[in-house]
Amino acid sequence: MYSNPPSGKDYAMLDVRPTIGDSKWFVHDRFGMFIHWGLYAQGARHEWLMNNESIPVEEYERRYFKRFNPDLYDPAVWAKAAAGAGMKYFVITTKHHEGFCLWDSKLTDYKAPNTAARRDLLKPMVQAFRKENMHVGFYHSLIDWHHPHFVLDRHIGPYRNHPDREKLNKGRDQKKYAAYLHGQVRELLTRYGKVDIMWFDFSYPKPDGSGKGHKDWESEKLLKLIRKLQPQILIDNRLDLPDGWDFLTPEQTQPPAWVQHKGQRVVWEACQTLCNSWGYHRDEQSYRSVDDLIHILIDCVSKGGNLLLNVGPTARGEIDERALDRLAGIGRWMRHHDRSIYGCTQAPDEFIPPQDTRLTYNPKTKRLYIHLFAWPYKHVSLAGAADRVEYAQLLHDASEVKLGMDAWHAQQVATSAKRLDLTLPVIRPNVTVPVIELFLK
Ligand code: GLC
Repeated sequence: MYSNPPSGKDYAMLDVRPTIGDSKWFVHDRFGMFIHWGLYAQGARHEWLMNNESIPVEEYERRYFKRFNPDLYDPAVWAKAAAGAGMKYFVITTKHHEGFCLWDSKLTDYKAPNTAARRDLLKPMVQAFRKENMHVGFYHSLIDWHHPHFVLDRHIGPYRNHPDREKLNKGRDQKKYAAYLHGQVRELLTRYGKVDIMWFDFSYPKPDGSGKGHKDWESEKLLKLIRKLQPQILIDNRLDLPDGWDFLTPEQTQPPAWVQHKGQRVVWEACQTLCNSWGYHRDEQSYRSVDDLIHILIDCVSKGGNLLLNVGPTARGEIDERALDRLAGIGRWMRHHDRSIYGCTQAPDEFIPPQDTRLTYNPKTKRLYIHLFAWPYKHVSLAGAADRVEYAQLLHDASEVKLGMDAWHAQQVATSAKRLDLTLPVIRPNVTVPVIELFLK
């Protein structure tokens, strides 16, 4: 990436595939909360519960719909936890594959107001997160294992192995389902004010024409509707369309470099979970550490990307303590280090990251950040930065980091002259990932 970008172009978007929606705030804010919340929270063993255990619609309704009662639900608590972690936007599952709707849709009875919740659960959530100055994103499942016109297939869903699946499909009309899908998206984009992200999930077209893709969703028509209703909105890449999307969504993986499409860098967002489930999972023990989560946030930004980190609230309406613990830990690090994340992107190519580090760069302030994933002994050197830096400090306490190294050490380490040496304290600072802030000339 350029160190002195041609004037007029935003550095973070230089040579990046342009978006149709407004991505300026998105590539600045970098860090969001994904929220998976629905009837599956009661099963408390993964949001694909209905599929995994092939639970028929009637049984699923009997068990969970009638008993859904999030009596401890307070979205202000969720929003504060997200803001405390340094998150700047959120994406909520308005409807997941199970088909249950969090909002008061006029197109179905399978919705929160018809449960013991007795209200639209989306409205207060949007209000609470907006109050924390967060951008609003709606996840919406293209798949719907509850809707009577969603044609059942052999790939996914509770009836994928059902011997009489074709009999069950009698009378089902996918076009009627597509009309329902479009109608609900219209509701979501006309009732809750400005929506910043539409996050669809997911298409699964198969080479033999089975599965489901853009034809089943009528994606082209849906895209036009969305762009008409909310022209500024960002749309993800899961509608099974070759173009018209705004960002790519690598899931549960850490891209090795800036994500590309047809050889061009794109706006991208990694979506990841805290444990091995998106929905609340009581017995899941594989919760990731705060250290690991901070490392992946830094890694995403160092490659020009965002991190959408997921929580799965319980059926009582609370984010559980394991998730709150991770969010608080991330927040402690972000309190001292968020300016190495917000407004940052991949560093110009001439700066070579030292071993065990990641670089982020703020083109507006012209500050370079060295994130030290391991604490080096006394010195760290940055190739390509010789005579480019006027001052350096540890970000967490703004304590000066001296440029250069003393002659005695310098004579012992014969490396390229084009490097910047920095002298560090021997004792590692007591922060998850120490960061050096370099003020470029
Ligand atoms: C995967 C999961 C789905 C989840 C999505 C989020 O597709 O199967 O349940 O909503 O990831 O990206």
